Amino acid sequence: MPHDVSLIATVAVGFALAFPFGFIAQRLRLPPLVGYLMAGVAMGRFAPGFVADNALTGQLAEIGVMLLMFGVGLHFSTGDLMAVRGIAIPGAIAQIIIATSIGTVMALSWGWSLGAGLVLGLSLSVASTVVLLKALEERNGVTTPNGRIAVGWLVVEDMVMVLMLVLLPAFAEVLGGRSQLPVTGTANLGLLASLGLTLLKVISFVVLALLLGPRVMPWLLRQVARTGSRELFTLCVLAVALGIAFASARLFGVSFALGAFFAGVVLNESDLSHKAAANSLPLQDAFAVLFFVSVGMLFDPSILVRQPLMVVAVLAVILLGKTLAALVIIMALGYPLSTALTVSAALAQIGEFSFILAGLGVTYHLLPVEGLSLILAGALLSISLNPLVFAGTDLLVGWSRKVGWIKRHLEEKREARFRRLQEDLEAAREASASKAAAHKSYSPEELAERFPLFAGLTTEQRETVTLHFEVRSAQPGERLIRVGDKADAVYFISMGQVEVVVGDHKIKMGPGDFFGEMALLSGQPRSADVTALDFCKLLTLSRRDFRELLRRYPGMRAPIAAIAKERSETNRLIKEHPSAD
Ligand code: CMP
Repeated sequence: MPHDVSLIATVAVGFALAFPFGFIAQRLRLPPLVGYLMAGVAMGRFAPGFVADNALTGQLAEIGVMLLMFGVGLHFSTGDLMAVRGIAIPGAIAQIIIATSIGTVMALSWGWSLGAGLVLGLSLSVASTVVLLKALEERNGVTTPNGRIAVGWLVVEDMVMVLMLVLLPAFAEVLGGRSQLPVTGTANLGLLASLGLTLLKVISFVVLALLLGPRVMPWLLRQVARTGSRELFTLCVLAVALGIAFASARLFGVSFALGAFFAGVVLNESDLSHKAAANSLPLQDAFAVLFFVSVGMLFDPSILVRQPLMVVAVLAVILLGKTLAALVIIMALGYPLSTALTVSAALAQIGEFSFILAGLGVTYHLLPVEGLSLILAGALLSISLNPLVFAGTDLLVGWSRKVGWIKRHLEEKREARFRRLQEDLEAAREASASKAAAHKSYSPEELAERFPLFAGLTTEQRETVTLHFEVRSAQPGERLIRVGDKADAVYFISMGQVEVVVGDHKIKMGPGDFFGEMALLSGQPRSADVTALDFCKLLTLSRRDFRELLRRYPGMRAPIAAIAKERSETNRLIKEHPSAD
């Protein structure tokens, strides 16, 4: 080859193999993710033929993790989490503790170190959000209460794991590993000091992100969206996601994943978050595929033959240990059996965080490479079996509803609790919907319907226009424009009535009308008083944005100028003939 094309080769072969494998998996009714992992196995050093560049794939995978976590952050709903906190927070934490303990004891019985046991246990205790979301999507369960409990549960798990990822380097040495990565720069300090420093960095990052982020980021996104360039908008989203992730890793020593997650959380507050999610999704999908391929590449299939019992033990922890723990916890918290069964089924798999954690464990010499292979085997098998687990759960739920005693004691008596949670979730949904409505002015279709003036623009152009609007309300009697003032904005009435006073004439205007354009067009002071007659909702366009609008869509100038001309003509007549009526 003429020059080094290993990156191109890795990406090309990665996609080229992931596609057919993913397709076959889908045909076999397995999540495509299993196919991507298998494609990775086929590309890895343990399989014959083409061997991809491990280091490069590792970095591509990391981009995948960053984008995945960014996506999780973008969809993370604090309201939902608050609604399910009573079950998700104690449940996830207790389940992590139980599963980690089982994993650790198991590893110790194999003669592994405590550190190796902890990493293995933690890796087995966390389920994959990606797998869960895909499974719920397939079953139309994302918005059901049980689905939202499961998602909230996993968000808590993810947060605990992010904390573990941050703490692991600080603890590595104590646990018998080697702290050799320069990222945190705390290798020479004592444990407590390095732990404190790490926590301090994380906290300062989180505080900074949460304080500055919601102010700066939505504003930035809005400015970019207002340019009307889709490409610039996508670029801005990516720059924010990867930029924050990278900078936070560099400056604060927190993981890329955490940085990206918070970039998502921060943008999540913005009314443009849906657009941001939609625009970054294709890239997120593509790199997520590379992530799973790269994980597959590390997998050594011979482990299945060499250590079948260990694989079975690991699988048992994932499929039984974890699920039973979750089942018992949810029942103990007083929720119905059907909820406990569904949420437990959702947890019976491991995925991306386990790989990240295990990978880090290997880097710090805590976990033997064998451990990584075991975790990968556990992930591959449990993800493949997940649809079966769900099907089994459905059967169990159906059966439990038929058995009188179970129905009475484990379902009906616990209904009240479940219903309360359902109400909380509903309230959270309503709160976020009304928050979105308060931010939102109009959809492109509504804009054209309400203001025919904009009907001639394309949907995208109308979307850009709506981004320039500020929503404002007015009380009855409130004066919106005073004659003689300098022009600052033009007003579009979306609700209520206003009155324009010219001489002794009063002209009423209502929804769909606009005013305040004359002074802006002529450069003269305001020509009349305008007062709200009842409670009004108005969309305003600042002088600058109005000029920008006319410059960008020249076709709009003529109809607006015609109306202004007609109005000033009327006013001239009124002034010339004061008692005209
Ligand atoms: P402007 O002069 O910027 O501020 C007052 C606004 O009242 C003016 O723009 C028009 O939008 C509106 N206006 C003035 N005269 C009339 C009229 N005769 N009929 C309807 N609207 C008017």
